[in-house]
Order: sequence, then C-alpha cells, then structure tokens
Amino acid sequence: MKITVIGAGNVGATTAQRIADKELAHEVVLVDIAEGIPQGKGLDMFETMPVEGSDTRIVGSNSYDETAGSNIVIITAGLARKPGMSRDDLLAKNAAIVKSCAEQSFAKSPNAFFIIVSNPLDVMTYVALKATGLPRERVLGMAGVLDTARYRTFIAMELNVSVEDVTAFVLGGHGDSMVPLPRYTSVAGIPISELMPQDRIDAIVDRTRKGGIEIVNHLKTGSAYYAPSASAVEMAKSIIRDKRRILPCAVALQGEYGLNDVVVGVPIKIGKNGMEEVVEIKLSDEEAASLQSSADAVKSTIAKLSVFD
Ligand code: LAC
Repeated sequence: MKITVIGAGNVGATTAQRIADKELAHEVVLVDIAEGIPQGKGLDMFETMPVEGSDTRIVGSNSYDETAGSNIVIITAGLARKPGMSRDDLLAKNAAIVKSCAEQSFAKSPNAFFIIVSNPLDVMTYVALKATGLPRERVLGMAGVLDTARYRTFIAMELNVSVEDVTAFVLGGHGDSMVPLPRYTSVAGIPISELMPQDRIDAIVDRTRKGGIEIVNHLKTGSAYYAPSASAVEMAKSIIRDKRRILPCAVALQGEYGLNDVVVGVPIKIGKNGMEEVVEIKLSDEEAASLQSSADAVKSTIAKLSVFD
C-alpha cells in the first residue's frame, strides 16, 4: 500500500502523519511545490516512526516521480480560507491547482483512488473527476465525514455523552447549504428528538453548518486541519481495509436522489473498489428540498469554472 498526499500544508502533513501513525501504508509520499517543506516535514515524520512503532516510510518531494504506483492519492493542495472569505472565493485558484495535481498524479498512478480535500470541496472533486477521466467510483470528496464529526461532537458536548455513541448524517454540499439530518441522528440507538428539545437541535444544526468558519475565526491565519485530516484518513482506511463503512462522501450522482451531473455529499458504501454503492435513504419533502438547493448551489459554482475551457 502506497499513498500519495499532495500538499504539505497543515491538512496534508497531518493526513500523512495520521496514515503513518496508524501504519495504514508501507509508504507515504508527501508532495508540495514549496522547496524543502515536504522533505523536511516528511523526514521529521519518518523520524517519529521508531517512537510510534510504525514501519511506514515517509518520503517528501517536489516532484511526482516518487508517487508512481500509488494506490491512493489524497489531494489537499490549494489555498485555505482567511476570515471573511467564502469557500467559493477560492474557486478559480484552487481549480487550477487541483486540476494540475490530479493530472500529474494520475499520469504516475493510473490505478489509484482519489480522495479530494481541497475547497470548494464538491466542485474540486468534480474538477479531479474531469481532469483524470476516472469513473466516479474512484474519485471521492471528503466533507461529509468532517461535517458529521462536527455534528456528533456538538451533540456529545450538549448531552455530556461519549462521542462514540452519537451516530448521524450530514448530506449535501460542504458549504452553508449542507443538510444535517436530525431524523437520522441517534445516541446509542435513541433518536435525538427524545433527548433534547427542538430549539437545541436547531442550534446544533446551525453550528454544524458554520463549523468550518468557527475554526477560521479562531485561527485567523488558516482553516481547520485536525478533523479534516482525520476524516480523509477514515475514508482511506475504509478502502484499504475493505471495511465497507457507510460514510457520507462527495460523489458524482447519476440519478440517485433525483440528481444528475453534480457532485454532492450522500451516504455511500466505501470499500476496496472505492464507492461500492450510493445508499439512498428516504427523505422528507423538506429534507429533499434542502438537498436539492444544496446541489443547485454546487451546480452554479461548477458553471463558473473556466479551467476546462
Ligand atoms: C472546514 C474547511 C476546511 O470545513 O472547509 O474546516
């Protein structure tokens, strides 16, 4: 198992570290255009392996040559948000970056699965899909796992219970239009509506939607990376171990949920073949309308792309 992580910023470096700490691959290649950064961070990480007791080898490089034959490519490259910036403000710059990273890594690793982390997430997943020409099963975007993790954390904080016991779903695009689903949220099997009043559920849903910007506003100089990297690694692990987890991931839809020609977050089964199945759950009229408007928001951003003109 060889994994390439593109982008040696906070998200990429933390992703590489988590893969190595969990010994999920025999080799991690960390690629970045900044001279010395992937080499320095990669070597520093490699030197933690005797302490961690993991035999993952970490290589840092400015070139794609070392990435050849990777099984999984995780793209985190791109600019991060600053306060006052929406994810869409990043569109033009990050589309060019992600297109180039996807093309160059695909040329070296034509059999890889791609996990996209760069923002605006759903649109960058679409860019990688087009740039590689791969089937949708092999190009997945990380956002639903992150949004769901935030939602689960807020519920556990509110109820003072273990985060492990909270199961939940967040659908839709990774943006202000994301769709947390209280109806499919439970704590140790108990529906959330039995455990807290509607106004608290509403407040938690709202905080989840703004979960990314809450971190940006604290950090001021960048965006979140601990939870985003953990979420990307969760997806990679389900592929590597063929766990067939049901995880919300951004995927190109072909009629599921009544949606076409758009990448948006839905529950999928994720295993050794990448996306094994889109899981279609029944939505209320209101939930379906929210998913539709979230998909519309992603579509209108896709329409603004000029990178393939
Ligand atoms: C977030 C940014 C990275 O949700 O999209 O933290």
